[in-house]
Amino acid sequence: MIDPSTIGEVVYSSDDIKKRVKELGRQISEEYAGKEIILVCILKGSYAFTADLAREIDVPCSIEFMQVSSYANSIESSGSLKIIKDINVPVDGKHIIIIEDIIDTGITLNNLKKMFLTRNPESIKLCAFLDKPSRRQAPIEADYVGYVVEDNFLVGYGLDYAQHFRNLPYIAILKEEYYKN
Ligand code: IMP
Ligand code: MG
Repeated sequence: MIDPSTIGEVVYSSDDIKKRVKELGRQISEEYAGKEIILVCILKGSYAFTADLAREIDVPCSIEFMQVSSYANSIESSGSLKIIKDINVPVDGKHIIIIEDIIDTGITLNNLKKMFLTRNPESIKLCAFLDKPSRRQAPIEADYVGYVVEDNFLVGYGLDYAQHFRNLPYIAILKEEYYKN
């Protein structure tokens, strides 16, 4: 059972999230009118966002899943990307949007984008629900961003701390005393 005392300020409520996801879906649908998209969900963090966003997109799309790891059970990035599960469809000549929960150092998305470019897609865009620009180490920006956030460790709506809290329907700050000792 989640101990509510570990959760700090709620930054985005479930209603805030719904509203913003709807706007992003509309924007993507307009920009890809007449085209077909492959949405690449980066597991596990973006499972909730991808599921919600896909239902707000009204152009034809398929959804593929990929799992990479750059974070272990720690809050600091290891700086390298390991593909745990790859998508199993070719993307050459296709329009792809990579969907992430959050861009922090940018190392994950930067490496992912480079890797996907070698597969010759027609176009590639990046969509992240949250963006923490103050932490950036790699030169990367998302094409679609839900919210720009400050440097706090956030949990909920797919975001975890040591695999916990992904199921919270809102996004909140994890209290520092919970992970700093
Ligand atoms: P990056 O490579 O540093 O941009 O890391 C991106 C990944 O780190 C995300 O997909 C998340 O899994 C994780 N991450 C970064 N910041 C947070 C956070 O505040 N809460 C939970 N996970 C985070
Ligand atoms: Mg994570």
